[in-house]
Amino acid sequence: MARRSLLATLLSQNDAAMSHTEKGNHNARGSTRRVTTKTLQRMRRDGTAISMLTAYDYPTAEALDQADVDILLVGDSLAMVVQGHETTLPVTMDQMIYHAEMVGRAARRAMVVVDLPFPEGQLEINRSLEASARVLKETQCHAVKLEGGAEQANRIEAIVTAGIPVMAHVGLRPQNVHVDGGYRIQRQTDELIADAIAAEKAGAFCVLIECVPAEIGRAITQEVSVPTIGIGAGPHVCGQVLVTHDMIGFNSGYLPKFVRQFADVRNSIQQAAMDYREAISSGKFPGKEESFE
Ligand code: KIV
Repeated sequence: MARRSLLATLLSQNDAAMSHTEKGNHNARGSTRRVTTKTLQRMRRDGTAISMLTAYDYPTAEALDQADVDILLVGDSLAMVVQGHETTLPVTMDQMIYHAEMVGRAARRAMVVVDLPFPEGQLEINRSLEASARVLKETQCHAVKLEGGAEQANRIEAIVTAGIPVMAHVGLRPQNVHVDGGYRIQRQTDELIADAIAAEKAGAFCVLIECVPAEIGRAITQEVSVPTIGIGAGPHVCGQVLVTHDMIGFNSGYLPKFVRQFADVRNSIQQAAMDYREAISSGKFPGKEESFE
């Protein structure tokens, strides 16, 4: 009993020390503690669902962080949703750093993960190491994400050994779009499980699973002990991620089946712009309240 209460005291002292060293500013819900790899492990252990969204700029990252989203991803999807390209392939490392720097500066509580864009995760391992080191050195972000599983094990191990947390991305790998001939549901159960296990063994702190049947999402989650985050991988995973522009309805293109739209931002912006234009042409803007005496 005495031993337990000593342990409890030590743990609460440790918590106090952590809240001093790891805290950011209070956000809308009053949370102050930075989400870390340890937090995510604990969430998996406790069965607490993990939320993750993409962010590419300061105001969006600030809003998502203040909504207590656990992980912000500076995804290479920015090539498609921000830059207007057809695939994720064109975005460069310099452009990723530019956006990651804004997101890292805005996030007080969320862990911020940055995608290694094509071909930083495909060429020699030293190049991936340098790109990953840039993320930690030049932005205030905390981890990188790398597409691939078993065939990326050596690369993941090298990056983690350098002190950089890695989230592995298995299942549909958008950077493979031309090899796969499009974006397709992935169904090779044994291979997908082997990818996730290899990534975990190599030191990945988390496995993102894209576009697999729900039962494969469940099977992968049962086979690894690190948290799993799904996008189109069903409900039996440890957390969910969506591209924010899809989730808020700020996208004019095709929406995959796995997206749920929680807002209609594109229409709100269009309506506001039409109201603004109308107010100018009718002479209603600016009014007295927007003018100086
Ligand atoms: O770049 C991205 O947005 C992604 C998604 C799978 C979340 O990797």
